[in-house]
Amino acid sequence: MRNTGLLTAALVSVALATPVAAQMSAEDQITARQGAFQFAAWNMGKIKAQAVDGDVAYNQQQMLAAANAIAAVANSGLGALFGPGTGMDQSEGTRLKPEFFEQPDKAREVAIGFAQAATKLQEVAATGDQAALAAQFGAVGKSCKACHDAFRAEK
Ligand code: HEC
Repeated sequence: MRNTGLLTAALVSVALATPVAAQMSAEDQITARQGAFQFAAWNMGKIKAQAVDGDVAYNQQQMLAAANAIAAVANSGLGALFGPGTGMDQSEGTRLKPEFFEQPDKAREVAIGFAQAATKLQEVAATGDQAALAAQFGAVGKSCKACHDAFRAEK
């Protein structure tokens, strides 16, 4: 009985330690991350329209929902969708440069920058301060660009 208990505990800890994305093919990881970035971009567009350009009337609930969505993407453990074999030198239909795998410190730096900027976006959106949200929108945009400049190939 004792052995069974230990085995069960070992299986549970293995299950917890295995990233969910380990089950995903390279193709599925690429599709999922592209969708995640499209979704983030869609929500950035809403913030730009309301907080930056003022084309659409400012609505704090909508701004908070958009910021929450962007922060959720940024803090979702997105790195799991950048597995081995998902660079453009090894897979079709992706613009992820091989440099991503050669510069793990830089990759970590831009990912953390995105997560921090997006988390702050969420905090600022909750205050309802339009000017502060516009400023933080700019900071998030810079964090998107920092990664694109380093690791996303031109079309
Ligand atoms: C950690 C790096 C990184 C960050 C941060 C990042 N991106 Fe990207 N983005 C990429 C890479 C790499 C691709 C190409 C993905 C592929 O083709 O597999 C991409 C692709 C995209 C695409 C095209 C998706 C498609 O359908 O092919 C859009 C739109 C986009 N990013 C917007 C954004 C926005 C907006 C942000 C910030 C809110 C952002 N990205 C943050 C790395 C990043």
